[in-house]
Amino acid sequence: MKIIAIANQKGGVGKTTTAVNLAACLAEAGRNVLLIDLDPQANASSALGVEATEGRSLHAVLTDEAGSLSLAEQIQPTPIERLHIVTAELDLAGCEIQLAADANRLVRLRHVLDHYRASGPAVEFVVIDCPPSLGVLMTNALAAADSVLVPLQCEYLALEGLAKILEMIERIKQVSGNTALELEGIVLTMYDSRTNLSQQVVSDVRDHLGQKVFDTIIPRSIRLSESPGHGKPIIVYDPVGVGAESYRQLAREFLQRQRQN
Ligand SMILES: Nc1ncnc2c1ncn2[C@@H]1O[C@H](COP(=O)(O)OP(=O)(O)OP(=O)(O)O)[C@@H](O)[C@H]1O
Ligand SMILES: [Mg+2]
Repeated sequence: MKIIAIANQKGGVGKTTTAVNLAACLAEAGRNVLLIDLDPQANASSALGVEATEGRSLHAVLTDEAGSLSLAEQIQPTPIERLHIVTAELDLAGCEIQLAADANRLVRLRHVLDHYRASGPAVEFVVIDCPPSLGVLMTNALAAADSVLVPLQCEYLALEGLAKILEMIERIKQVSGNTALELEGIVLTMYDSRTNLSQQVVSDVRDHLGQKVFDTIIPRSIRLSESPGHGKPIIVYDPVGVGAESYRQLAREFLQRQRQN
């Protein structure tokens, strides 16, 4: 079981779109995947058409002092075969405050996932959709993850943003003791081939991070932005369009990289 956090402290860069569609494409490719929606906005849950139900999220498990609640009880199926989800709810935002006095607050999710992994046949991949804020929830995700995948929007000052997130990953590695955390890679999103800026961002980021940048680039696509509103991943909403093809390509490249490591 490999745990991948999709993270970038910047808002609106394509984290949720990438988490949902990469997870769906991995499931389509025959893998068992668990998507954890760790953002109180619950965008990943609604993008898959799964309603956030009160009491069914990580909130109860993360704040359970007795440690008797398990992740398995919170898992729900999605309309996609082999893809399961732990939805988010607004209550998750309360974790920040509730866990404030807990000495183990940064490694709660790691313990929950360790327990899940040890408790029987688990999934192959756990994909965590992180909130944009740099708080207890995102720290928990990075403390629990084996790797972090960073979506980066092809826009002005992308490199500065990238430097910030890489610095933050290093800092969380130190404070959470998760020194094994790896950078899975950078995924360039919302690429617009008509603009020089997009092309410039791609070449700058590749110059700086080389192999760590996925070859697959996610183009800007209206269909991709419409699909969450219909509660469907892109492979269902527009199965043969460029958005679906680019996320399938990303899943293939992701799997290929797993074999190489
Ligand atoms: N490749 C794309 N083409 C067009 N629109 C996109 C693409 N990727 C994402 N979007 C749209 O951009 C917006 C932000 O994307 P998304 O919600 O995935 O970002 P996020 O990083 O999860 O945001 P937040 O930080 O708020 O959680 C959404 O409206 C989404 O539909
Ligand atoms: Mg999001």
